[in-house]
Amino acid sequence: MHKPAIVALAGGRINLNLAGFAVTGPHCKKDMAMTFINEAGYADHVSHRLQATRASMAAEAVDEVWIHSGLPLHAFLDDYEYPYRPNPHFAAWLPLTSHPGCLLRITSEDRPVLYFYQPVDYWHTPPAAPADWWARHFDVHVLQQPVDLSGLMPSGRAVLIAERQPAGLPSGVEWNSETLINRLHLDRTVKTEYEIECMVEANRIAIRGHRAAEQAFHAGASELEIHLAYCAAAGQVEAALPYGSIVGLNEHGATLHYQGKDIRAPAESRSFLIDAGADCNGYAADVTRTYSANGGVFGDMIHAMDAVQRELADAATAGTDYRELHLSAHRAIAGCLVDFDVLRIAPDEAVETGVSGHFFPHGLGHFIGTQVHDVAGLIADQHGTPIPRPDGHPFLRLTRVLEAGNVLTIEPGFYFIESLLAELRASEYASAVNWTLVDALKPYGGIRVEDDVVVLEQGVRNLTREAFDRPA
Ligand code: GLY
Ligand code: MN
Ligand code: MN
Repeated sequence: MHKPAIVALAGGRINLNLAGFAVTGPHCKKDMAMTFINEAGYADHVSHRLQATRASMAAEAVDEVWIHSGLPLHAFLDDYEYPYRPNPHFAAWLPLTSHPGCLLRITSEDRPVLYFYQPVDYWHTPPAAPADWWARHFDVHVLQQPVDLSGLMPSGRAVLIAERQPAGLPSGVEWNSETLINRLHLDRTVKTEYEIECMVEANRIAIRGHRAAEQAFHAGASELEIHLAYCAAAGQVEAALPYGSIVGLNEHGATLHYQGKDIRAPAESRSFLIDAGADCNGYAADVTRTYSANGGVFGDMIHAMDAVQRELADAATAGTDYRELHLSAHRAIAGCLVDFDVLRIAPDEAVETGVSGHFFPHGLGHFIGTQVHDVAGLIADQHGTPIPRPDGHPFLRLTRVLEAGNVLTIEPGFYFIESLLAELRASEYASAVNWTLVDALKPYGGIRVEDDVVVLEQGVRNLTREAFDRPA
């Protein structure tokens, strides 16, 4: 085992002045314990990334790729920061989620170089020193200032992948070349074993939170109390979660990305929709469950949606056109609504006329990885040629034919959303709806069931159900 080449540059072997990328204030608010380490898997992961990135570089005649970790964003007129999110391309290489001001530099031959920003900072806890299990794959240069791109000399044509375009880039360095990025995005759609293991772990963490949230709901807790119970059980502070948790009681379940967290519990908690994930080494879980306080028709509907969701998840096999699966979801959801006498129209007709879209107005799911809504779901090639969505389905985020190694969500649902119901009531299809029942169900909000699944060579692995099936 050879040691990581960690070169302390406190003495200034690299120009440490800030140029272009200015970090002026505090940083690293997220202090996430590294919960999961898979050394052998990570070695294979880095080796895959390197091979794939070099193939993309060769195809694009690029000599170096520079991936910046990102920078904190400050509140206006203050030195407080918004929660930092790493550049997802950086996170796809390194398990460093709280490390602004770093740069990964990949060339066609040498070991990748990591400029690792580790300030001396008595206002905050600085990042821990590089850990051997990941650092041994890089030449690590520890810096006490954020990396200064203007002080680096590319060996030829270089591409910088970064959220913001810095001033003063050395000549020959292009920012976010579209065709190169698309190639890297397409590569990221097929996950390595290491990435899948990170998402297995992220799901386990999330399901600990989901169990606690369900208990809190049944105990009559408020949305805020449920949210806090979730974070405590998952062991992740809100800023560490991959997205803002959706914690909706009653009618709030009908707001697709409900962002409130009511402090007080409602007089009656009838239903509960929670869409909440977790992070593992920069990889996300994205999980939704819906609960009924007292069973009843709404409880039966949840069971029916659960069965629909399982079937759709099992059908996300290699070779499946996700657009077809999305349309199957519409037919299945319409069938469900017919079975419960909400709709009085044939399911196929409900889909063709757009009636089902008034109850299920979002896409069936999306790729997931270092981004909750991961990249390249809608493109065919490095030119970004779009793979069109079916007409009338503008929010579908994934239109590709699935292949082994894809990780994606399956999240069907139906909701009683006032604005969409009003449109339907005013349309020629108003008579297809049992409005008495819709009015009775509106106080329950809606239902969504969401799992994260891996497409295998044969069949599908459901990371979320696997985590729920483990003993608590
Ligand atoms: N949590 C956001 C989504 O399910 O896409
Ligand atoms: Mn999702
Ligand atoms: Mn979700």
